[in-house]
Amino acid sequence: MSSTIQIWEEILGDQVFVFRGERDSSDHSKRTIVEIRSRAPLLKRQVGARIPPAYREALLTTWDDSRSNPGTKAIVHGYVASPVNSIYLYGEVGRGKTFAACTISNELLQRGKAVRFETVSELLLDLRDSFTAEGVSEKSVLQPLRDAQFLILDELGDLARNRDRTASAFSSSRILTLLDSRWRTGKPTILTSNLSLDELEKWADDPRIASRIGGMCTVGGVFEIEGRDLRVDAVAEEVEAG
Ligand SMILES: Nc1ncnc2c1ncn2[C@@H]1O[C@H](COP(=O)(O)OP(=O)(O)OP(=O)(O)O)[C@@H](O)[C@H]1O
Ligand SMILES: [Mg+2]
Repeated sequence: MSSTIQIWEEILGDQVFVFRGERDSSDHSKRTIVEIRSRAPLLKRQVGARIPPAYREALLTTWDDSRSNPGTKAIVHGYVASPVNSIYLYGEVGRGKTFAACTISNELLQRGKAVRFETVSELLLDLRDSFTAEGVSEKSVLQPLRDAQFLILDELGDLARNRDRTASAFSSSRILTLLDSRWRTGKPTILTSNLSLDELEKWADDPRIASRIGGMCTVGGVFEIEGRDLRVDAVAEEVEAG
């Protein structure tokens, strides 16, 4: 079988190695190191953007098709090539939605864009605290999310799991205002969820959230990520590796 020469990156500790050679060969003499650079500048920006540590190595250059669901890389690639609109990634548990959103974030950070990552569950907690905690205002929670050039809002389905009705109505209205504000100012938002927009409309407190997202993620901006539960695979790999 003929092998092709590739250029790829691997992250080892706090350094990025750029290799050239036969990527799939177990014979490491068939690869040479083209460049070694520090991860520090990107890492600093990832910390600032609040990218969760487990997803900081997610990049297109290190993407491994065998560990992802079909079609996901094309979505990420397409978005990074033209990051202008908002997108909604939905699918069942463990399909790779957060990984895809973080790959987009890391690629954008690498291109000098300003990104902010936030999970809806943490945002709900912060909003609840702003009700009661001294020194935490609703504005201080929401303003950075309004201002971010790109906002990743992860696990929007958590809106439908909020059992506290008063807090839930309050939070939903704030999230709707946040989405509205970002839409009006033309700032892209990357949303992930376990629910389709139809399900979100049915289950979230405020059906206008799904409707607003449908409007923001214009034609071609709503993607279902299908396939297998990659979390199960990742755990199996860890067990195998001991
Ligand atoms: N392209 C990929 N390459 C390598 N690992 C991946 C990839 N996509 C997902 N994974 C791994 O699979 C697991 C599940 O992925 P992820 O957290 O993105 O799923 P999810 O769809 O966001 O799940 P949930 O609905 O529970 O939030 C994680 O451990 C993640 O690191
Ligand atoms: Mg997720």
